[in-house]
Amino acid sequence: MSEVLKVAMPKGRIYKKAAELFRSAGIVIPTDVDDSRRLVIPIPEANMEFIMAKPVDVPTYVEYGVADIGIVGKDVLLEENRDVYELLDLGIARCRMSVIALPDRQPGIHLRVATKYPNVATRYFREQGEQVEVIKLNGSIELAPLIGLADRIVDMVETGQTLKDNGLVELESIFGITSRLIANRVSYRMKNDAIQKLCDQLEKVMPSVVKS
Ligand code: PRP
Repeated sequence: MSEVLKVAMPKGRIYKKAAELFRSAGIVIPTDVDDSRRLVIPIPEANMEFIMAKPVDVPTYVEYGVADIGIVGKDVLLEENRDVYELLDLGIARCRMSVIALPDRQPGIHLRVATKYPNVATRYFREQGEQVEVIKLNGSIELAPLIGLADRIVDMVETGQTLKDNGLVELESIFGITSRLIANRVSYRMKNDAIQKLCDQLEKVMPSVVKS
């Protein structure tokens, strides 16, 4: 039997979609794994070990090789800019990164932008030729324009419900987001058979819209 594949799995909402995709690809993940609070979970049925990570840390574990592969949103990949291979667009957890503001609110000369994604936001506004002050927040980003911390936010939009409930509008969509399968560069060579087999299994069941 080949070596165990160490998989950095994002805890939270992407986990559920990733586990569903793995299962539909025929990979056996016992159901008690889904609600477990354990952080390192052997899955002998699949010859894998799940490392349950905070999503933003998945590329770090993979870059350092403590996980061979990982599942992570394109938003995190673009923000973290880690040295990893991006193997597959899994087509799950689809959403978008957008610039958001209160309607009809004209910013002053000095534009302030709040975000969980300072690198993404800085890059975007630099490309637009706009000088902005980026303020890093860790969650509930929509608060920033509501209470006067920032003129704009750069954040993920999935259903649009959070924007609607808070009276905010999307000014521009910057890029689409889906979850990606990433690999450590050394693991990709050393465990190529196992990784390639997983890719083949996943490709057969990935949402069809991303196959074209
Ligand atoms: C994310 C994102 C938005 C919301 C978008 O927040 O930052 O606030 O989801 O989803 P929607 O378009 O379906 O409403 P998350 O729930 O991850 O929590 P956070 O505020 O702690 O970032």
